[in-house]
Amino acid sequence: MTRKILVTSALPYANGAIHLGHLVEYIQTDIWVRFQKMRGHQCWYVCADDTHGTPIMLRAEQEGITPEALIERVHGEHTRDFAGFHIGFDNYYTTHSSETRACANEIYSRLRAAGLIETRTIEQYYDPLKQMFLPDRFIKGECPKCGAADQYGDNCESCGAAYTADELKNPYSAVSGARPELRRSEHFFFRLSDPRCQSFLRRWTQAEGRLQNEAANKLQEWLGTADENRLTDWDISRDAPYFGFEIPDAPGKYFYVWLDAPIGYMGAFRNLCDRLGLDFDEYWRPDSTTELYHFIGKDILYFHALFWPAELEHAGYRTPSKVFAHGFLTVDGAKMSKSRGTFITAASYLVQGLDPEWLRYYYAAKLGGSMEDIDLNLDDFIARVNSDLVGKFVNIASRSAAFIVRRFGGRLCTCDESLPAIAAIRERRRLIAEHYEAREFSKAIREIMALTDLANQYVDSVKPWELARQPGREGELQAACSNAINLFRLFAILLKPVLPALAAKTEDFLNVAPLVWDDTATVLAAGHVINGYQHMLTRVDKRQIDALLAANRESLATTPPVAPQKHAEHQEKAAAVAVAQAAVPTAAGPHIGIDDFLRSDLRIARISAAEQVEGADKLLRLLLDVGPLGTRQVFAGIKAAYDPAALVGRLTVMVANLAPRKMKFGMSEGMILAAADPDGAVAGIFLLAPDDGAQPGMRVR
Ligand code: MSP
Ligand code: ZN
Repeated sequence: MTRKILVTSALPYANGAIHLGHLVEYIQTDIWVRFQKMRGHQCWYVCADDTHGTPIMLRAEQEGITPEALIERVHGEHTRDFAGFHIGFDNYYTTHSSETRACANEIYSRLRAAGLIETRTIEQYYDPLKQMFLPDRFIKGECPKCGAADQYGDNCESCGAAYTADELKNPYSAVSGARPELRRSEHFFFRLSDPRCQSFLRRWTQAEGRLQNEAANKLQEWLGTADENRLTDWDISRDAPYFGFEIPDAPGKYFYVWLDAPIGYMGAFRNLCDRLGLDFDEYWRPDSTTELYHFIGKDILYFHALFWPAELEHAGYRTPSKVFAHGFLTVDGAKMSKSRGTFITAASYLVQGLDPEWLRYYYAAKLGGSMEDIDLNLDDFIARVNSDLVGKFVNIASRSAAFIVRRFGGRLCTCDESLPAIAAIRERRRLIAEHYEAREFSKAIREIMALTDLANQYVDSVKPWELARQPGREGELQAACSNAINLFRLFAILLKPVLPALAAKTEDFLNVAPLVWDDTATVLAAGHVINGYQHMLTRVDKRQIDALLAANRESLATTPPVAPQKHAEHQEKAAAVAVAQAAVPTAAGPHIGIDDFLRSDLRIARISAAEQVEGADKLLRLLLDVGPLGTRQVFAGIKAAYDPAALVGRLTVMVANLAPRKMKFGMSEGMILAAADPDGAVAGIFLLAPDDGAQPGMRVR
């Protein structure tokens, strides 16, 4: 029977890069979804960027762009990173969409009609300078327990004490530095303490198979015993200024980001339905017979196993069939760390030229169905990829394909289906499928690798490379290689959910249609002609791992994150120095990651006008044509070296995303690049120029 399945991964926040920790989740989900699709089920995988909230609003402000521009840029980065790891979303959308807004309004109004929304006045810290209410994480002060300075509003990093923001001594706003004051404001609450929610959640969370045992136990703890009411109402509104959806009929009040985030699953699916002509209601109505699964990290269980099902239930929608929580990633047994270089971004992994399927394989080999943390042990990573993937799997093909192609025109002969390795695959494929279904990927991999051992024993016993040297044994050679290639094909099918790119290469090389799970029951017919063998996968080199860590190591010399207003100040100073000098003396500095570099937007610019600036002895005023980015005015400290008239029409390189800076003479909207000898031994300033063909607006990287 064909199942109809809707699957989600948690929506990553739109203000940070995807890293290897996130990828545990997206790879886990993707493997499961690919497995379902290979089985012939109708399975949809949707996800989106989680775009709302104070941190995103402030981050955009800090970068001098609108939140809309920020989330659009990050959406591009996330889409690129996920594609790089072969995460096959059917839709990767955004919560900042009309679909999500419509679903959020609908759910909210139904909850209100059900009497589950209540307004209440609360007291909260307010930043009088910035004129906004502050989330706890934007308040700092002295720890009430040990007195350590600069601690966050929820717990002390020095002594570990937990407290609330109003207990901090000498609190200050991390946004403006101002002393926050307590102010009253009206908030909207979802009444989780209502007996209807209580009794529903008790039933729902303890339903057979709904949650993993560890998760069900956690929920039991949160809910308390039947005569207790431990759930408190949930504050779902925030006051302006806020980046999010304004609450209907409540001007200046916005849905809290966690209200609309899970609704983003619906929004993303609604968008997919509209594009493909699918029936949204079939998947979301209360009596739906389709399946709905959420893959999440254990840190967001509360939202997915309490708030979300309670909302859905009482707004008249179906609830999730199951919620699958996974543990957290550690690297070499410790939390990911920027100073050790183990806070590894997805982009850096790809840019350094590491194969995404190495990581997919390694995670699969470690992942089970539990909430336990998983460790990326870098030595083990190298060893497993090299010994399992290359040594045991790819080797089967690389040792036999060339003979078939060169000696037999690519033609296979009959496969011997009585080989112990083939019989074993037929016997185990059902169990392997069960492991995939149960998200016990490590068990599936263990089974598959044990089978590759059998296959390699076979190849070692028939030794095609020796047969190839003995005249008159062509028949045996063709038979041995045909068997080996058939074995390789079977492993490629069993591993296809984990290694989709390698499977695609295999389909090419074998000259066959996309492989599906049931193909494990068949072999290639005698006479089938394969294409030339192409390279499948390389070994990992320890030096690649070292380079990856170096690229992600945040050196102590790098500017630490600063409060937004300080950051702006810092940028301005940097711009001033650069504009005045056009060159900064220094030796090659410590390494930065590729992401750091890519944050500067370098563009080809045509100097469309240049003139002296009255009252400035070093500066020229330039107008730069930056193609699609428009025209920018820049003050450059190059007067001593260039005659303005000679500059007009020239192409050069500019930094296009420097925060604009107000100078005595006008706004400076960027910076052009020039070289100079710091010691002054070589006189002059040398403007950069691109090779012929570069056009204004092109990105330089
Ligand atoms: N935006 C929320 C989720 C909203 S879902 C309606 C969020 N975003 S996140 O970017 O912080 O995390 C996205 C997912 O990645 C979460 O499921 C989270 O648990 C997971 N991980 C983030 N860091 C992780 C590790 N270091 N290890 C494993 N998973 C991790 O939470
Ligand atoms: Zn303390």
